[in-house]
Amino acid sequence: MCGIVGYVGKQKAAPLIMEGLKRLEYRGYDSAGVAVFQDGRFELAKKIGRVANLEIEAARHKLTGHQGIGHTRWATHGGVTDANAHPHISSDGTIALIHNGVIENYAQMKKFLLTKGFTFKSETDTEVLCNLIAYHYAKEPKPTNGDSRFVESVRKTLGHAEGTYGIVIMALDAPGELVTARKGSPLILGLGDGESLVASDVSAIVSRTQNVVYLKDGEIAHLTANNFSITTLSSGTVEPVIDKVTWSIEDAEMGAHAHFMEKEIFEQPTALENAMRGRFSEDGSTAKFGGLNITAGEFRGVDRFMFCACGTALHACMVTEHLIERFARIPVECDYASEFRYRNTPLFRNSLFFVMSQSGETIDTLAAMREAKRKGYKVLAINNVVGSTIAREADGGIYQHVGPEVGVASTKAFTSQLLIGAMLALYLARMRDMSFSDGTQFVEALKQAPNLVRKALEQAPHIKAIAKRYAKSQDMLFLGRLSLFPIALEGALKLKEISYIHAEGYPAAEMKHGPIALISPECPSVFFAPNNEIFNKVVSSMQEIKARKGPIIAIVTEDAELPDGLADEVIRIPQCHEAVLPIVASIPVQLLSYYIAVERGCDVDKPRNLAKSVTVE
Ligand code: M6R
Repeated sequence: MCGIVGYVGKQKAAPLIMEGLKRLEYRGYDSAGVAVFQDGRFELAKKIGRVANLEIEAARHKLTGHQGIGHTRWATHGGVTDANAHPHISSDGTIALIHNGVIENYAQMKKFLLTKGFTFKSETDTEVLCNLIAYHYAKEPKPTNGDSRFVESVRKTLGHAEGTYGIVIMALDAPGELVTARKGSPLILGLGDGESLVASDVSAIVSRTQNVVYLKDGEIAHLTANNFSITTLSSGTVEPVIDKVTWSIEDAEMGAHAHFMEKEIFEQPTALENAMRGRFSEDGSTAKFGGLNITAGEFRGVDRFMFCACGTALHACMVTEHLIERFARIPVECDYASEFRYRNTPLFRNSLFFVMSQSGETIDTLAAMREAKRKGYKVLAINNVVGSTIAREADGGIYQHVGPEVGVASTKAFTSQLLIGAMLALYLARMRDMSFSDGTQFVEALKQAPNLVRKALEQAPHIKAIAKRYAKSQDMLFLGRLSLFPIALEGALKLKEISYIHAEGYPAAEMKHGPIALISPECPSVFFAPNNEIFNKVVSSMQEIKARKGPIIAIVTEDAELPDGLADEVIRIPQCHEAVLPIVASIPVQLLSYYIAVERGCDVDKPRNLAKSVTVE
């Protein structure tokens, strides 16, 4: 949450920072702001709303300086107002700061600062932190350990801060310098040619440089245009590792698509190919993963898996649970990461933990992972963003390799998680009772996934027409069974998050235990009805809806025959192996949600109140 960009170099800072902020806008879009150091002072522009509003505001300020910081906000403390937008400048005018995270003890700090004569213009915790840095900066003698007074005063301030932060700071009497520090909120340094950048996400940096350093929790970096150094909060030295970003700026651009979500939906065949590339054994009978850091023997000793995640990623875990239990016969439990952490679940001695997270920065998932590690368990991560906090703190893991996902509604990351979950189920099953020939068939089926998804995408014009007919609905049910129950949950989540239609996902047969009360001609039900052993049971559930005049949108496999007139709309998907079915069945609900949201005029890529990666509890 919240996008952060800092720049120091030869170029005019403001346009570069605002370009970066546009790429980060999916992290929060309540307000945006930029502060530039020029003519010996900070020039500040900030505005509620999108970066486009900020650009208009910034034009009035004539921002010409070569050093600056910028921010897009997802409000936590204090409403969505210009005053609460970042950057904040200390009341003595010496410090400018942007912040992602929450300072939990800001109230005590504020009380103290008021006694020292500092004043406040906003309701934010950030402004308090900014003033406290100014307080320490004013008092700080020149340190003897070679560090700058600027770095020392930030270090001292953060020693008093409880909570989470990713911050970038400028000091009035330290021109050409940026100080940045993190605890719980991602920050990446970009090392360019005669310029340095810092951002909360690689996408804001990659147009300037592919050389990056992922800052770790508890580290402080000091940047100038040509140099940087990193120390720890406790004054320790850090030997920085410079990484190379493997994707380019084009990967994070929309191209000819109307929205990132549309682009990412249609990218799924390629994304799936990338997610499985090089991950099958040479004999073609099982999956292989490079970075699990766990031996086959250790895997065989596991008698229970625990999966933790949030939102869409949790739905992918639930499908994985189904497949591991079905094929490998190992018990799996899934939990909301946010609940796991506080629930004090009794755990088994030979449990193995997995967390799933597209961003690798979701704070609830990170906290669940840390809790499991604290209890002595190994934790493996399935994660898309390379170098993310979760990827770095996990004992091992599997990267999704689907490139940047920008749309707030997760699509290609989700289906690649489903694919990796299926590969994991295969890998575990082959260690146990699955035969060579069943394994070979499974592998062949997974390799078909990209083409089957291509075929499912051909239904887009048909689904668009259906979307037009149902776009005015106020409620919708999504109903599926077995591995498609989590896809029903996902369909409901997708629809509500981007179109603001109230939607619920249920196991199809459970619907008659309550949700059926919602059924009316105005409340359509989306049914998943593949031709499998419980097809007739799902048809019976459809009949119960039909008897109550509820419209039915049926997603059926090509070989399924529905009774005449039962469904008002039929969307056909290709027949496929049951491990691939959840992937293929996700496509129609992604498209349906997308087209309904477009029809309703919603801001598909930036739905209200949401942010792409949720880095506050
Ligand atoms: O980055 P993560 O996978 O950890 O994100 C978890 C959820 O916040 C995320 O999946 C969210 O539910 C999506 N907006 C759904 O489309």
